[in-house]
Amino acid sequence: MTGAIPTAASLYERVRRVIPPIQWPAFVDDIDAILALKRERNAVILAHNYQTPEIFLCVADIVGDSLALARKAMRVEADVIVLAGVHFMAETAKLLNPDKTVLIPDLAAGCSLADSITPADVRLLRQRYPGVPVITYVNTSASVKAESDICCTSGNALAVVKSLSVPRVIMLPDEYLAMNISAQTKVEIIAWTGRCEVHERFTAADIRELREAHPGVTVLAHPECPPEVVAVADFAGSTAAMSDYIGRQKPARVVLMTECSMSDNVAVEHPEVEFLRPCNLCPHMKRITLANIRTALEENRHIVTIDPRVAERARWAVERMLFI
Ligand code: 13P
Ligand code: SF4
Repeated sequence: MTGAIPTAASLYERVRRVIPPIQWPAFVDDIDAILALKRERNAVILAHNYQTPEIFLCVADIVGDSLALARKAMRVEADVIVLAGVHFMAETAKLLNPDKTVLIPDLAAGCSLADSITPADVRLLRQRYPGVPVITYVNTSASVKAESDICCTSGNALAVVKSLSVPRVIMLPDEYLAMNISAQTKVEIIAWTGRCEVHERFTAADIRELREAHPGVTVLAHPECPPEVVAVADFAGSTAAMSDYIGRQKPARVVLMTECSMSDNVAVEHPEVEFLRPCNLCPHMKRITLANIRTALEENRHIVTIDPRVAERARWAVERMLFI
């Protein structure tokens, strides 16, 4: 990396609308240390849209939804990748960069969807539905991906279903994502029973109340929400698709039925849009902090490893998705 290292002081202007001045001093030391460590270690930080603004806007090099992070991970040239996100995202980065060091600042940053299914479950499904292709959401462990024909994200799930040109698919593990995609295609979708613990809590009644209290509000929902929520939202899409929608449509007032940090990160780019803030926190995403990113770079931990036999098959399922 070349050029002057930015400093925390020069970054505050960018985040002042979402980080109050009273909170900022607590971040400055870690931000400056991380910016220097990235240079020393030739490291990049990939951050998901649900990371808090002091991570997303101040130290991350590459940001986006799961699909964008996977795509951009393929082109990383640094020696070290720090994944500011959850464990399955770090595994995906490792699958696509087997020769690089991939670090996750907290090994316990999991995901209720990834925890909902095992490789043995997938093998049983294959026995029950012989010949039916298995599409696996990226929110799964590498060992579950290894049992799959192809992966998908919330940003490309419909395109992946269509790409297979078959009458029936298994889509796992998110039951609601499968139901929401099923509403957009004639392909029969066999689902699993996994749920995102953050998105399953939104209800259609929440949206009705919001519309009554704030007439004209635009409601965007993540496709991990229950179908009854997606049905009454104005638009449903991945975190990147929601962000793009706001950039294109510039709604006067918007609410995002998704994780809380998403609104902060998008609001910075769109000061003219008013964001209402009912939201749910993802406890797994919130395990990642500036302090543990700094420690990850200082102490080279936690190194993400994947059994090579699993990795080869899982990589194939991820790469097949990325070729679409
Ligand atoms: P996106 O791929 O839409 O960013 O979603 C990832 C995720 O974990 C949503 O809960
Ligand atoms: Fe998993 Fe839901 Fe958290 Fe995303 S928001 S990481 S799907 S638990």
